[in-house]
Amino acid sequence: MSKALDGVRILDFTHVQSGPTCTQLLAWFGADVIKVERAGEGDATRGQLRDIPGVDSLYFTMLNHNKRSITLDTKNPKGKEVLETLIKECDVLVENFAPGALDRMGFSWERIQELNPRMIVASVKGFGPGKYEDCKVYENVAQCAGGAASTTGFDDGPPMVTGAQIGDSGTGLHLALGIVSALYQRHASGRGQKVLAPMQDAVLNLCRVKLRDQQRLERVGSMQEYPQYPDSKFGEAVPRAGNASGGGQPGSILKCKGWETDPNAYIYFITQGAVWPAVCKVIGEEGWITDDAYATPAARLLHLKPIFARIEQWTMTKTKFEAMDILNQYDIPCGPILSMKEIAEEPSLRETGTIVEVDHPTRGKYLTVGNPIKMSDSPTEVTRSPLLGEHTEEVLAQLGYGKDYIALLREEKVI
Ligand code: COA
Repeated sequence: MSKALDGVRILDFTHVQSGPTCTQLLAWFGADVIKVERAGEGDATRGQLRDIPGVDSLYFTMLNHNKRSITLDTKNPKGKEVLETLIKECDVLVENFAPGALDRMGFSWERIQELNPRMIVASVKGFGPGKYEDCKVYENVAQCAGGAASTTGFDDGPPMVTGAQIGDSGTGLHLALGIVSALYQRHASGRGQKVLAPMQDAVLNLCRVKLRDQQRLERVGSMQEYPQYPDSKFGEAVPRAGNASGGGQPGSILKCKGWETDPNAYIYFITQGAVWPAVCKVIGEEGWITDDAYATPAARLLHLKPIFARIEQWTMTKTKFEAMDILNQYDIPCGPILSMKEIAEEPSLRETGTIVEVDHPTRGKYLTVGNPIKMSDSPTEVTRSPLLGEHTEEVLAQLGYGKDYIALLREEKVI
């Protein structure tokens, strides 16, 4: 079966996490992704957080499926010449080097345009233009600079980062959307363009509701759905809201049976207005259905702490899965706190290909997260990540280089 991005060639100049997640998605949609790595060492993540000595790490393998790898010293004149050929032959160059690195290598936007005016140059940087534009950035820096950390955690604790890699993988997703949009526009314009996804901006985009709340706070002085209301004071900026829901339906994480020993025996419980009578019936508080203090969503906002404390008395009598089964019968929105162990073993995620087992020549079998985006006419088959330089000769031959020249490049350590 054909794939959505069949025929699109990507010069993948990415490393670490943000860029590789983007090009991995494009590969899953059918693009031919050629990862260009430093001769000798490759993407630094190959050797980071290793669990098996001398074998590509899970960090690398889980971010670089379905790609081809070539090694190339792009600071060597002969390497630069190969890179120029690649630029002429590819549709998109994706990179997430430190600011200015591509220019220092001799491949400015202007130079790339000279070589291939149809080339789309897509970049992840930590920051967009401004006072921080020259800074190197990793995941947690982006979470802090994009507003996520100041709004995550509990009111009486420090700012917190989240395990979801919204700075890296989140920015990779944004960049991928920019790239496919630029490819679409190129059909009409015939031209490439620059696509930039700064990590700060991508995180802020995901924290949009918190900028909403900042403006509500400035206008009203408080926010009734926040756990700070009605007892504590609000300051000038959006506070950390613990596990309160970010929308109009109050929610909280509640203990379930076994919480004393199982750190994940919890459930997220949402007291959606539409099912309030059902919530009252399930927990045995039918009186709350008509009681003025609880009957309306506005009245309940004054009592969220005692309401969730009472619901928790009920959830503590059930395992998170028993509670789910009962609450789902009444359409009460809720979700178990799943551990990574439980997710890895979840049969439905295996069936949909969101968790996949992949075989690797030096590592053996490992689990990975497959393509979370499902397309009916462009199915994804996850194939293993390439070994360092595994496709160097194959790609160079496709570019028209002969065996002798390839041997010379190898001898001179250009590849
Ligand atoms: N051949 C020769 N040189 C190469 C090369 C190749 N194939 N590939 C990369 N290089 C060079 C670069 O040109 C650069 O050289 P320079 O410093 O002389 O200009 C050098 O390798 C290092 O690249 P750099 O990007 O600075 O790597 P780093 O390890 O120092 O920094 C980051 C890593 C992630 C902090 C940085 O790349 C960055 O801020 N990227 C943008 C934001 C980002 O994506 N962050 C998230 C990462 S998950």
